[in-house]
Amino acid sequence: MLVLTGAGISTESGIPDFRSPGGLWTRYDPRKLTFDLFCSRLETRRDYWRLATETYPILRDAEPNAAHRAVAEIERAGKLLCLVTQNVDGLHLKAGSSRERTVEIHGSSLRATCIDCGAEHDREQLHRLLLAGKVEVPSCELCGGRVKPATISFGQSMPEKETARAFAAAGDCDLLIVIGSSLVVYPAASLPDVAVKAGASLVIVNNEATPKDDLAAALVRGAAGESMTMLLRGAGLADGAQLSPRS
Ligand code: APR
Ligand code: ZN
Repeated sequence: MLVLTGAGISTESGIPDFRSPGGLWTRYDPRKLTFDLFCSRLETRRDYWRLATETYPILRDAEPNAAHRAVAEIERAGKLLCLVTQNVDGLHLKAGSSRERTVEIHGSSLRATCIDCGAEHDREQLHRLLLAGKVEVPSCELCGGRVKPATISFGQSMPEKETARAFAAAGDCDLLIVIGSSLVVYPAASLPDVAVKAGASLVIVNNEATPKDDLAAALVRGAAGESMTMLLRGAGLADGAQLSPRS
């Protein structure tokens, strides 16, 4: 089984998604935060880091919810071929999904790299400097270049290895479960088409319609945490107790 997740799996952990009412792209204009503008304009890098300073602590301090735990349970039960997440919050890994089977296709907000020399930077230390006002636009300790959170922005090329792994898994799986994605951003949004064309069944767990609904064998219209807990209980994959929200 291949699992593909989007921002909707993390909203119950307190992390806003992008396109729901109140989502990130209803408050910031993604056209002003493209990779090309980040590379070419100091002003954009300043805006980008201001947004990152707001969102980083929310992601860093968030806890996985029942849906993340359900995905980790599927892996523990030996049923997971691969988990592809569009999320950059690290919550699947926190919930116990293995790094080996987890593909962070849009990178991670919890790391930062220099786009000029690739040097890794300590994201927590950068956050402290930004918060203290000691830095406004981080530059690389090694080459003086432009440091960016290790996420894939609009216009930035996708990570080759991760993308190839995601599409290979889509071609090999017998079942693809999509959890909490609007399925409007490519190339991730074409994974359902690739999987169904290769003979897999598609299940979409989402609290609103998506453009891929007509490909689905089943649509679970509801909250990710509760839906995934019920699905696992129904599949006898877990008594559900481990999945219920921790007190
Ligand atoms: N349970 C189920 N579905 C939910 C929940 C929830 N608790 N919360 C939100 N949703 C649904 C929303 O209705 C929406 O359809 O999850 C979907 C989230 O869609 P988006 O906000 O578009 O997020 P996503 O699909 O992950 O976006 C893909 O776009 O901006 C880029 O890089 C960004 O990775 C992101 C990509
Ligand atoms: Zn550098």
